[in-house]
Amino acid sequence: MNLLKKILHRVMSFQDLPTEASQDLPTGITRKLIADKYLSGNGIEIGALHNPLPVSKNTAVRYVDRMPVSDLKTHYPELARYNLVDIDIVDDGESLHTVKNDTQDFVIANHFIEHCKNPIAAIISMFRVLKSGGIIYLAIPDKRYNFDKIRENTSFDHLAIDHRQGPSVSKKKHFEEWTLSWNQITDPEKAKKRVEYLMGIDYSIHYHVWTSDTFLDFLFCLKKEFLSDFQVLLFLQNEDECITILKKGY
Ligand SMILES: C[S@@+](CC[C@H](N)C(=O)[O-])C[C@H]1O[C@@H](n2cnc3c(N)ncnc32)[C@H](O)[C@@H]1O
Repeated sequence: MNLLKKILHRVMSFQDLPTEASQDLPTGITRKLIADKYLSGNGIEIGALHNPLPVSKNTAVRYVDRMPVSDLKTHYPELARYNLVDIDIVDDGESLHTVKNDTQDFVIANHFIEHCKNPIAAIISMFRVLKSGGIIYLAIPDKRYNFDKIRENTSFDHLAIDHRQGPSVSKKKHFEEWTLSWNQITDPEKAKKRVEYLMGIDYSIHYHVWTSDTFLDFLFCLKKEFLSDFQVLLFLQNEDECITILKKGY
């Protein structure tokens, strides 16, 4: 069975994938194979930073981020040795205010949705800018394989409250979680100062965290409660991340 067939064979049956996938499907190759199969035409990638999705030559991508490259370099000094993609559109990727409805063939958002204060609104915005039949290419880090493993999975109820009441209700709590998981600060006074600092510079933390199965659950709850007009075309564990392909309409 060739590599692409192997991937497709695994659609919607991810239970046994982490071990298998990590043996024969390097993260980058898998991302590209899936991009080649599902992406064509004109679209946007949100938060590509130093790791844009490789796409085929007949595919045109405009890059969206919340700040220009000069500011991103300040925000992420640890990425100094990497080239960051040039930003075509400075916009809040959660609302995509500057992108018109029904204009894009695809939206790519890899390791972005966990940085969203309101993931439900972010996905609704992505579907808003897509043409009918357009594709969302979404990858999330699986918290079991990174520093987020000590955090509780974000429940759908939590996300629904963030969406209905506004994400400021839980913002500070998420910075406290991040200070513990990423900065590993346990001293309460130091943690308090760190939280104040990070909130002051609007640092882009992981507000919410999932494993592959809780993310799949999120997609089904989203479909049931907020946004019925989409299909899940692919759902795949790709080493320490999970990739899903969503299609607008039927
Ligand atoms: C972890 S990086 C993702 C890097 C890359 N896509 C990858 O797969 O490795 C998260 C990116 O999302 C961007 N980002 C975070 N919040 C955003 C927002 N509200 N609007 C637009 N971009 C945002 C960050 O600036 C950064 O470029």
